[in-house]
Amino acid sequence: RIGQPTKLVSPIKDQNITGLEKSKQLAAWTAVDNHVKPEHRIIGIGSGSTVPYVVERIVQLGAEANQARVFIPTGFQSKELIVSSGLNLGDVDEYPTIDVTLDGADEVDRELNCIKGGGACHLREKVLAEAATTFILVADHRKNVEFLGTSWTPGIPIEVVPFAYAKVLQNLHHILGSPQATLRMAVKKAGPVVTDNGNFVIDAPFDPEVMKKPYTIMAQIKMLTGVVEVGVFCHMAQAAYFGNEDGSVTVK
Ligand code: 5RP
Repeated sequence: RIGQPTKLVSPIKDQNITGLEKSKQLAAWTAVDNHVKPEHRIIGIGSGSTVPYVVERIVQLGAEANQARVFIPTGFQSKELIVSSGLNLGDVDEYPTIDVTLDGADEVDRELNCIKGGGACHLREKVLAEAATTFILVADHRKNVEFLGTSWTPGIPIEVVPFAYAKVLQNLHHILGSPQATLRMAVKKAGPVVTDNGNFVIDAPFDPEVMKKPYTIMAQIKMLTGVVEVGVFCHMAQAAYFGNEDGSVTVK
């Protein structure tokens, strides 16, 4: 559903958290209230710091409702979250059709294209987005942009097989122009970040002008030998929820 953003009133009565965390909770709770239906049995759970609030709200739906459901994770973090919340864990190879997947995003544009992969999970996230009948994004207000590349993201996350990373870095230069792509390093530069699939991640800054055609850029990068998945999701989401500082939620 693409259209004019609308503002909703917060479902949140618990005022214990503040600031950005509150914004994330607002978005997540509202999205769960609007999109997790009693008849839904298979639910995809994304990754990142907003998704725990999705699970928090789902748990509040009650053990009886959730007993009949299976939850599919997008990676190690969401698997832990599902299990530690007492929800039933499943895998996408057992359940390749998902009723609804809820996931975070790094930026979402006015047409619901988005950049994902801040947590290096975008390959599995894209599989679960594609498997879902309904794919919903949840984020704080910083992620709500007109065009991709106009906020603070460090670039397009690109998962690559380790053997090919240097060549992909070189070839990205031809597609994206001057900005220099870099291999994502673990904290304290202990070595490259390794994904749940055993691959590396490149962050590729881009000129926002180039990104006005996100599908074209995504497809060009995906064609590079050694690229496994690109953190640009085009026309996959049905709606995006952003928690605002004033306690409202913007839906687009
Ligand atoms: C992980 C992702 C996350 O969903 C994205 O980075 C948003 O995370 P957060 O909710 O922490 O802002 O794509 O690969």
